[in-house]
Amino acid sequence: MHLLDIVENSISADASTIQVRYEEDTTRDLTRLEIKDNGKGMDEKKIKKALDPFFTTKKTRRFGLGLSLLSESAKAAEGSFSIKSKPGKGTEVKSTFKTSHIDKKPLGDMSQTLVTLIMAHPEIDFYYIHKIDESEYSIDTKAIKSQLDGLPINSPEVIKYIKTNIKDGIDHLRREK
Ligand SMILES: Nc1ncnc2c1ncn2[C@@H]1O[C@H](COP(=O)(O)OP(=O)(O)OP(=O)(O)O)[C@@H](O)[C@H]1O
Ligand SMILES: [Mg+2]
Repeated sequence: MHLLDIVENSISADASTIQVRYEEDTTRDLTRLEIKDNGKGMDEKKIKKALDPFFTTKKTRRFGLGLSLLSESAKAAEGSFSIKSKPGKGTEVKSTFKTSHIDKKPLGDMSQTLVTLIMAHPEIDFYYIHKIDESEYSIDTKAIKSQLDGLPINSPEVIKYIKTNIKDGIDHLRREK
């Protein structure tokens, strides 16, 4: 699963809001994965460099793989990859996959992935949308935070609630199919 890698990029870019959209279009046999952040963004030159696996701004190693691996995976599954970014505004990474393609990576445990991110970065607002055709599930940690009355979003009971909510929400979408 590439989602963690791409979201980590948004976090490194100091995003305060990260939106993840996962969409399945069953009639077109198409899956979309889109990540949008309000982090520091990149100019044209940096976008080009970012897609080069031998480029990274990380000081600890000589190349970065997150974006190039997602791009490779999308292409391997007859899909597409694109990135849009503006300095000071944010970045949007879009990828598509042929759902039935043998090389399409499985979705993985989305509730666990999201909860891991929320626990590690309680200050970031995560907005997650999961769509299967016309049915949609979404969760917005900003809205949840506003109802917590000071209770931290990463407290065990809240995390447990969020995890169950995501799991049930996605299961429900699948059962509708
Ligand atoms: N959302 C983003 N906002 C701003 N810059 C980004 C974003 N995503 C990627 N970049 C830039 O593109 C570079 C390449 O990203 P990529 O994920 O491919 O590799 P990495 O993050 O450097 O290393 P790795 O993902 O392998 O740990 C990053 O170092 C960063 O400079
Ligand atoms: Mg990365």
